[in-house]
Amino acid sequence: MTLPVIELSDVSRRYDEGPPALDRVSLKIMAGEAVAILGPSGSGKSTLLNLVAGLDRPSSGTVTVDGVRVDELGEAGSARYRRAKVGMVFQFFNLLDDLTVADNVMLPAQLAGMARGTAQTRAAELLGTLGIDRHSRAYPGRLSGGERQRVAVARALMNRPPLLLADEPTGALDTASGDEVRQLLNDLHADGQTIVLVTHDLALAESCATRTVQLVDGRVAADTAVERAR
Ligand SMILES: Nc1ncnc2c1ncn2[C@@H]1O[C@H](COP(=O)(O)OP(=O)(O)OP(=O)(O)O)[C@@H](O)[C@H]1O
Ligand SMILES: [Mg+2]
Repeated sequence: MTLPVIELSDVSRRYDEGPPALDRVSLKIMAGEAVAILGPSGSGKSTLLNLVAGLDRPSSGTVTVDGVRVDELGEAGSARYRRAKVGMVFQFFNLLDDLTVADNVMLPAQLAGMARGTAQTRAAELLGTLGIDRHSRAYPGRLSGGERQRVAVARALMNRPPLLLADEPTGALDTASGDEVRQLLNDLHADGQTIVLVTHDLALAESCATRTVQLVDGRVAADTAVERAR
């Protein structure tokens, strides 16, 4: 029997004021799935992603990722968990502007204690695969949006995480750059990468996801397999 990569069991996240951001959500995601989390603004999408990433804790319920009880981790444990298990991509790239592209990509490996030579080889490989190796020595400020997001994806994949999380990865991109990133996520999924992405971009959900989960008011309103010609 294969275990799910992600298992949320009866997860709620409440703040002092207002209705719960997540309300008793249960969800299993298996290895190799590409899941798009959809839903209106404020429906709890980022909250869900942050709980899976160990950036936030549920008020109740359990979050298990690749055998780790993420909801029980302390600060150091959750930093270690993120380095080992998840790569994250954000809407506004979150690259460090005073590091070169290559150094941005190598950062997670350095934090995980990988030897510099090994990290350099892996970074060069990733930048090559993602088609941005000619920019390795440039600073992110000089790159286009699509190129920056590719760098962010390379950084997210540096430590070969079992799980790639993305929050609105095409949200700040024009159509052409969005297409680059959609294609890239598609290729990663075809290679077996488990992906969970939050998006308002239906083209992205349709081109990349094998399953869509619709949140409304912090609850799962629909959970649908996507039929796609591959
Ligand atoms: N730190 C916080 N304190 C209080 N309420 C919060 C906090 N963070 C999020 N919320 C509330 O939780 C709900 C869900 O927020 P969340 O960011 O998960 O929405 P979202 O689906 O990602 O929206 P968007 O599409 O706009 O990014 C919202 O009503 C939001 O106001
Ligand atoms: Mg959000």
